[in-house]
Amino acid sequence: MKEEKIKQNLQTWYKKNKRDLPWRQNTNPYNVWISEIMLQQTRVEAVIPYFQRFLTELPNISSLATVKEDRLLKLWEGLGYYSRAKNLKKCAQVIEENYHGKMPETFEELKKLPGIGFYTAGAIASISFHEPVGAIDGNVLRIFSRLYLDFDDITKEKTKRKYFEKIKSFIPSENPGEFNQALMDLGATICIPNGKAKCEQCPIAKECLAYQQGKVDMLPQKSPKKERTVEEKTIFLYTYQDEIAIKKRPKTGLLASLYEYPNQKGFWTEKDIQEDAKKKKLPIKNILYVKESSHIFSHIKWNMIGYEIPVKEKIEGFLWVKKEELFSKYSIPTAFKTYTEYLKNK
Ligand code: ADE
Repeated sequence: MKEEKIKQNLQTWYKKNKRDLPWRQNTNPYNVWISEIMLQQTRVEAVIPYFQRFLTELPNISSLATVKEDRLLKLWEGLGYYSRAKNLKKCAQVIEENYHGKMPETFEELKKLPGIGFYTAGAIASISFHEPVGAIDGNVLRIFSRLYLDFDDITKEKTKRKYFEKIKSFIPSENPGEFNQALMDLGATICIPNGKAKCEQCPIAKECLAYQQGKVDMLPQKSPKKERTVEEKTIFLYTYQDEIAIKKRPKTGLLASLYEYPNQKGFWTEKDIQEDAKKKKLPIKNILYVKESSHIFSHIKWNMIGYEIPVKEKIEGFLWVKKEELFSKYSIPTAFKTYTEYLKNK
């Protein structure tokens, strides 16, 4: 039977090719949870140093439940999708309050927790608690759509559920977590997207209908993403001696509660800045053009232009922080990296 072959070949392949990753050394539910949340939308190589730093500082549920939000966001700085970090803390608090500080041990219970969805519940349940359930993400769906020559849209919940059910019929009851991770590694190293699949190295190519029919490049099917809206912004790096003006972003919405440099909508010229400063009586000394930059979020693109503006005295309404403190204490999103780097190298 096809599934039996898939299972055996994948297990043999994984024994030889398993990637040595820090969260595979100790598969306690806390470590697995943190790693799986970090790995959503983020590459393995990028996650590794964050994972290690996070676990050193917040080694367990109780430390996470009580961490200050600014510190948590600093630990997450650069990983993006910051609501993941806030949900981690919220979830740790729920576990402290409702589960005596212990992670629930079944897929169904895990799924009830904030920030833990279908995929993460499957990963924790199978890897840490050996429950034979799938951990079905986009990578695994890509593999299955090719294996079964399935043109269903993999972004649809229905497709995910179909394979969540299907995998139950052949996921091994011994080490189901290893099996799920074998699929993850296959998806990351062999059955890769964008027509670059390395089918000649694939342990289950013989079972793969798309491979047999030369249709690997046509799969998976995904409904097209909505186009991103583009926003233009002007970034103002107000400096006073060795201090820089920043401000906290609103508690909700994009990059909520993180810090940013003062900014305004639209592309401002030096003349615009000068006129505005005159009107508002801002004590600016001069205006130095820094650079243009852009940053892509999942649904928005920011095009930015930035200026350094030394001031004769601190402008009210901002938080003025020393350069060293800015880099060590405040979480400034990667979207502003060009300007943060500029200040670092000044
Ligand atoms: N991607 C998501 N989860 C993973 C894991 N546990 N190992 C490797 N890559 C992953």
